[in-house]
Amino acid sequence: MVFDVSKRKRAPEAMRRSESARVLIDALPDAVMVHRDERLVYVNARLLDQLGYPSAELLLGRPLRDIIHPDDSDKVLRRLEQMRLTGKPVPVSEERFLRRNGEVVTLEVAKVPLIFDEEPAVVAIGRDVSERRHAEQRFRTAVESAPSGMVMSDESGEIVLVNRAIEAMFGYTAHELVGQPIEILVPTRVRSLHPELRAGFFAAPGVRAMGAGRELYGRHKDGSEIPVEIGLNPIQNSEGTFVLCSVVDVSERKRAESALAMADRMTAVGTLAAGVAHGINNPLAYVKGNLLFAQAEIGDLLDTERAARPGPATLGRLAEVRKALGEAEEGANRVRDLVTDLLTFSRHREEPHATAQLTAVLESVLQMTANEIRHRANLAKSYEAVPAVVGEASRLAHVFTNLIVNAAQSIPEGEAECNEIRVATWTDSEGWAIVEIRDTGCGIAPDLQARIFEPFFTTKPIGSGTGLGLSIAHGIVSALGGGIDFKSELGKGTAFRVRLPAWHGERGVAPAGACGHAGRMRLLLVDDDPLVLRAMRRQLEREHDVLAATSGQECLALLRHGEKFDAILCDLMMPVITGMQLYDAMAEEFPRDAERMVFVTGGAFTERAQQFLERVPNPRVAKPIDADALRTALAALTSTS
Ligand SMILES: Nc1ncnc2c1ncn2[C@@H]1O[C@H](COP(=O)(O)OP(=O)(O)OP(=O)(O)O)[C@@H](O)[C@H]1O
Ligand SMILES: [Mg+2]
Repeated sequence: MVFDVSKRKRAPEAMRRSESARVLIDALPDAVMVHRDERLVYVNARLLDQLGYPSAELLLGRPLRDIIHPDDSDKVLRRLEQMRLTGKPVPVSEERFLRRNGEVVTLEVAKVPLIFDEEPAVVAIGRDVSERRHAEQRFRTAVESAPSGMVMSDESGEIVLVNRAIEAMFGYTAHELVGQPIEILVPTRVRSLHPELRAGFFAAPGVRAMGAGRELYGRHKDGSEIPVEIGLNPIQNSEGTFVLCSVVDVSERKRAESALAMADRMTAVGTLAAGVAHGINNPLAYVKGNLLFAQAEIGDLLDTERAARPGPATLGRLAEVRKALGEAEEGANRVRDLVTDLLTFSRHREEPHATAQLTAVLESVLQMTANEIRHRANLAKSYEAVPAVVGEASRLAHVFTNLIVNAAQSIPEGEAECNEIRVATWTDSEGWAIVEIRDTGCGIAPDLQARIFEPFFTTKPIGSGTGLGLSIAHGIVSALGGGIDFKSELGKGTAFRVRLPAWHGERGVAPAGACGHAGRMRLLLVDDDPLVLRAMRRQLEREHDVLAATSGQECLALLRHGEKFDAILCDLMMPVITGMQLYDAMAEEFPRDAERMVFVTGGAFTERAQQFLERVPNPRVAKPIDADALRTALAALTSTS
């Protein structure tokens, strides 16, 4: 045949070229097919393997559409047309193929025009990406279901992937985040620094923790900041380098840690406070006692002088002395109040002997602080019913006064109409009384939030705050078995919440205001400090008959001698025999007298002293003795006997 002959004539050269093309195609690790006029003219072993055909004969001569996924055939034809028109290879693109058994494989296909067996043909080289697609899918599933937040961004900082934990943590949907710059999750105050840090990471990608040694915060959709820990992992794929950040919300842990650190500090401050308080209380007891005595004496003398022989000069001077003594006593009272405050640091539990009505306390506090509030904010109140709580009204007033003054001071003066301080009460599901004080003031910066309960921490100018307010409030509230916490957002405001246990009324609580007069009594004072004894004696002698003993032994000796007393005022902490031991000894030998003991507590309580006071029903008064408190205690004795 002519045709045959002419072809064979050119054969050696052409055959050699086709042969080397076949060798090359067979050696490629990718699947290769050669087609002409949309019919397959050559396929390599890798392609047969990928499409599941045992031999080339099954495919050669067949139309291309037999192995192309019907949904992709238009696209393939378009690409072929484009190549025919330009005579150039078309870029790599994904095409789906059908395996012999009907399954689908996705190949990334490059197409090149080529002379094959002397005639123009198309070589299509396909790389299997199904495995990669699977891997990507597995990666997405793993990221998606990871318990910690995962967010992936590319080199330009664009978010390409977030998981559910990120959505929950930051309050955005995945849809709102993907495509946005990663800086959307960075607090505005440090946002401008972030691109440079990101560039630094991509310059030397490696697994690392972000911001080593620094506190990191994320920004929630609502603007609040979330303390976080961030791990960075570079991810390399065909599309470039990405960074996968794992984000853990550490708010809970931070809260727990700062509560612990706080407890530690409180213990340390408490020990110090107890020491200081104890050191001050004893001398204060006799300063105050003597002042009272001197005042009363001078009062008497003035009266008798006036009656007998009024000398204006003497009278004037005596009157001045009485005034000075009054002022000195006022000073001593202030020191006593300070000592009481210091002591709240050292007590783990306040003795639950008093009860208070919170709304009454709040109303009186609001009256006292009205001037602070008026020019800064509108006052709003929403009182829901709360149970009576354990605690002394005056101590609780101290807590709320500080919270309200703090709230007022967080708001600048002058725009009262635009600001609000809201005082709310309610009972929570566990029956605790809740008081919330919410302001629209300046808020507390996140990095200061952990410190505000520290003693002496203040951001106020010298002279306007000592920084003791919140630490004392914390001391008082936790001593009552309650709690105090807050939420604050810089620039928006702060809400402090105080939780107090309801009072269940089982203890012998003296009803408020019951400080009846017990009449003249025979008292025995027991204290190891003679100065304290002398001052107490002077103070009490005006109203009672008083005997003094400087030790427990002396007290027992007097009782054994047949002495009778209406009440025995006994210091709790004495050397040799403590007040507690004396009580136990008396309970054996003189049970009626044991019932008549009033314990005088002077500052620091040991663990044992606390347990003791919880065990015995006797009344107690604090040193330095306050006349009203003593009257109440003595009245309690007479009412029970
Ligand atoms: N409602 C609030 N709004 C903004 N910042 C507050 C608020 N309450 C407390 N703070 C911050 O906490 C710090 C400590 O408060 P704290 O009451 O312990 O002390 P102080 O008010 O500064 O001084 P002091 O109460 O002894 O007069 C304040 O200086 C302030 O920075
Ligand atoms: Mg304060």
